[in-house]
Amino acid sequence: MHQRILILDYGSQVTQLIARRVREAGVYCEIHPGDVDSAFIESQQGLKGIILSGSHASAYHEDSLKVPAKVFEAGVPVLGICYGMQSMALQLGGKVEWSDHREFGYAEVRARGHTRLLDGLEDFSTTEGHGMLKVWMSHGDKVTQLPPGFKLMASTDSCPIAGMADEERHFYAVQFHPEVTHTTQGQALLSRFVNEICGCAGDWNMPDYVAEAVANIRAQVGTDEVILGLSGGVDSSVAAALIHKAIGDQLTCVFVDHGLLRLNEGEQVMKTLGDHFGMKIVHIDATDQFMGKLAGVADPEAKRKIIGREFVEVFQAEAGKLSNARWLAQGTIYPDVIESAGAKTGKAVAIKSHHNVGGLPETLNLKLLEPLRELFKDEVRKLGVALGLPPAMVYRHPFPGPGLGVRILGEVKKEYADLLRRADAIFIEELRKTEDPISGKNWYDLTAQAFAVFLPVKSVGVMGDGRTYDYVVALRAVQTTDFMTADWAELPYALLKKVSGRIINEVRGINRVTYDVSSKPPATIEWE
Ligand code: XMP
Repeated sequence: MHQRILILDYGSQVTQLIARRVREAGVYCEIHPGDVDSAFIESQQGLKGIILSGSHASAYHEDSLKVPAKVFEAGVPVLGICYGMQSMALQLGGKVEWSDHREFGYAEVRARGHTRLLDGLEDFSTTEGHGMLKVWMSHGDKVTQLPPGFKLMASTDSCPIAGMADEERHFYAVQFHPEVTHTTQGQALLSRFVNEICGCAGDWNMPDYVAEAVANIRAQVGTDEVILGLSGGVDSSVAAALIHKAIGDQLTCVFVDHGLLRLNEGEQVMKTLGDHFGMKIVHIDATDQFMGKLAGVADPEAKRKIIGREFVEVFQAEAGKLSNARWLAQGTIYPDVIESAGAKTGKAVAIKSHHNVGGLPETLNLKLLEPLRELFKDEVRKLGVALGLPPAMVYRHPFPGPGLGVRILGEVKKEYADLLRRADAIFIEELRKTEDPISGKNWYDLTAQAFAVFLPVKSVGVMGDGRTYDYVVALRAVQTTDFMTADWAELPYALLKKVSGRIINEVRGINRVTYDVSSKPPATIEWE
């Protein structure tokens, strides 16, 4: 049983970042809705502290979520962030008021009073010797009167109470957001809270986790057989490697190739997981079936539905043949868990969840095995490396479930997919070959997603002495951390020139390459 921090969510878009920072400090934590009941808080074994998230709501509105009174009676340290601070102030007898000066973005905060939370943390000091923090603020309301027992911990010119503390009860609160990277001392502040103030020993690390997860899987499935749908993506590959480590040949993976994968992806999966790891993998080439169903369909949503439905059908037929299987394993990760919980309660911000094999356990009458449900994506990657998967596979850009199906505009044809795969592979190969002079990184690692898109229109070109009349591909490369907003990447012209030259010369059938300079919003990352 790990020591744990409970994060109560009041609807901020960045609540997940709090959890990631806490995990980075080596401490296990979970996010739950902000209005959990007392019994839930009492049931938290190993509870060492509570963090209250931000929100877009106003703490003093009647219908806003209140912090459960039990939080302040649980006998553990509490850290309030933004709305969490305002709720703490209001509920413990202070005052919060609407402010006509909305603060949004960069701010400099002066630390005051040498509290345990901020002691020694500073980005610079003023000429008078005051320690200053560079932080990110986003609030309209502010605390205007400290609750009894609290002292001032931080202030800015426009927000005199930007932090407060009751050190006797170990209650701390900040108006700024330590969880975002723009707050440079944010990780240090959160580590200070969980490791020193809450006294967590940092018992959450990957090598120990592997041993623990393996033991849990063995205990859970016993001698039963397990099936897993392999997609070639990071989550299902890591889940497969972990389960295989735990139960070896009791695991059978089913790899459905819908003909819309990237170049050589199927071979790579078979080579790495099949040959190298020795997993039992049933490889099904269902290209013709998928292409048949997609023929004549141009609507993006209709295409998505067909691909999802066929995938389930093919997988189900194969799984049905493995009559001893009692478990279906899935690579569900923690953000999926939080998002679907949020979507159910309507509280947390439900952004999107893509489940490619949703609904399968019911129809197959299988129990669900989800060994990654506690992990964030970066932890899944670390786990993959710890299990011996190649870093290039583990750190691959995300790839949508419907694959190239959403990167071929309109009707999908095998001929288009073949052209696109080759153009895409050239783009990725050239991105990996580069090195940025400032960061020393290559452009593949400097972008969150990069790919080619097939445009089913023909344009005129000239090659040698002849006229060509061929298709167009667009290159898309974006930088983002959350995929909810994204900027198009400012790739060097020389790189774009090289990529377009190679694609046009090497991929017969494409005679024009364009670069997509749209950000999200208003565009999306994928074209469909
Ligand atoms: P958009 O295009 O909405 O994409 O800006 C945001 C992120 O989601 C991925 N994406 C998908 N992933 N199934 C998936 O598994 C899908 O249907 C799907 N659609 C978009 C996209 O690649 C990007 O990372």
